[in-house]
Amino acid sequence: MTSVIPLLLEKNESLVVQIKKLRAWYKDLKVLYDISLSIKPGETVSIIGPSGCGKSTLLNTIAGTLKGAHIEGEIEVNAERIGYVFQEDTLLPWRTVTSNILLPYEILDLKPDVKRIQNLIEVAGLKGFENYYPSQLSGGMRQRVELIRDVIINPDLLLLDEPLGALDAYTRIKMQIFLYRLMEELKDTTIILVTHDVEEALVLSERIVILSNRPTRIIREIGIERCEDPVGVRTTKGFRDKKKEVLEILYSGGR
Ligand SMILES: Nc1ncnc2c1ncn2[C@@H]1O[C@H](COP(=O)(O)OP(=O)(O)O)[C@@H](O)[C@H]1O
Ligand SMILES: [Mg+2]
Repeated sequence: MTSVIPLLLEKNESLVVQIKKLRAWYKDLKVLYDISLSIKPGETVSIIGPSGCGKSTLLNTIAGTLKGAHIEGEIEVNAERIGYVFQEDTLLPWRTVTSNILLPYEILDLKPDVKRIQNLIEVAGLKGFENYYPSQLSGGMRQRVELIRDVIINPDLLLLDEPLGALDAYTRIKMQIFLYRLMEELKDTTIILVTHDVEEALVLSERIVILSNRPTRIIREIGIERCEDPVGVRTTKGFRDKKKEVLEILYSGGR
C-alpha cells in the first residue's frame, strides 16, 4: 500500500515518519493538538495514551487512511509498503490459514516465499493448522495468522493498532513473545505499536511515546534498553522502575 501524504514537507529520507505540529479534529471535537514526532528507519516505537485520545487517528493519519477528520500541520511518510494491523479480526473466513497468508502475494501479484511462510507458521506455533479455517482457531491463533499475513511481504512500515487488545492475560503474554520474535525477523521494518499495556511497550519497543487526554499532546518520550528476554525481564528491578515511571507520567495526564 502506498500512503496518501496529506501535506508534503521537503523530503527527509533519513526519517520514515516526520510529523510537525499535527492537529486533528472531528467537527468540534479537538483530538490531536500539536503532535510532533520523528521516527527513524528500523525503529520500534510504542504509543500509549488514554482511550479516545486519538491513537487510531494518529495511525490513520500516518497510513493516509484517515476519514472524517480535519487535519492541519505537516506529515511526511517515507514508506512504499505499509502493513496495518487493526484490532478487529480481518481474516477471510472462507480461506484457510495458508490461503489467508497468501492473500498479499495474490494482491501484489508476487511469487510466494514458501520457506518464509513455513518458518513464520512454525514460529507462530501454527504448524499442523495450515488447512484450518479461522472459525476453527482460537482468538490468539487468529491474531497470529493475521500478523503473519500483514508482515509476510516485508512492509517498510508496520502499524499495529492494539493488536493484542482482546486477549486474556496468558494468551497476551504468549502473543507478546511471538511479536518479539517476529520483530527480530523484521529488523529493517519500522514499527509503530499502539498499546494500552505498559509492559507490552517496554518489552517490545525502543521508545515509548506517552500521550495526554484530549486535546492530545505528547507528554513525554522515553527511551528503553533493548530487552533480551521477553518473559524474564518483567521481574527485574530496572523493568519495574521503568513501568512505574511510565504509569506515573500516564496517569499524571501531563500535569
Ligand atoms: N470518524 C469519526 N467521527 C467523529 N469522531 C470520531 C471519529 N473517529 C474517532 N472519533 C473520536 O475521536 C476521538 C479519538 O478517537 P481514536 O483516534 O479512535 O482514539 P483512540 O484510538 O486513542 O482510542 C474519540 O473521542 C472518538 O470518539
Ligand atoms: Mg484506537
